Amino acid sequence: MKVTISRKAHFNAAHRLFVKSWDDKKNESVFGKCSNQYYHGHNYELIVNVTGKVDPITGMVMDLKVLADLIKTEVEDPFDHKNLNMQVPEFADLIPSAENIAVVIYNKLIKHLDKEKTLEIILYETPKNFVKYCG
Ligand code: NI
Repeated sequence: MKVTISRKAHFNAAHRLFVKSWDDKKNESVFGKCSNQYYHGHNYELIVNVTGKVDPITGMVMDLKVLADLIKTEVEDPFDHKNLNMQVPEFADLIPSAENIAVVIYNKLIKHLDKEKTLEIILYETPKNFVKYCG
């Protein structure tokens, strides 16, 4: 019997989407407002889904408090109120698009989960724009 447990989290962060080898005009034509050279912020909403077997003794897939602490340590503490391009090492040479942020979050969290569990990351950059990554 497999069940998915979910935890929501939130962080505010600034970013700029740009390709270093392109000029400002080309970057603006591809990335629009997200290429503003002075950066801008988003209120990111994160949903972390973990799917696995229900332990017959505890009745749990995973302790949600443990998952909440992991998200805090691996995502909220390092990302919240940060400039992703300049302050988060994973994005030093990686464009902090919603897609790449979701992949980075997945890679940071999957390391802590048992092998038989599956992880799904849903990241809202705006209330209407969101991405999903499952590895
Ligand atoms: Ni943006």
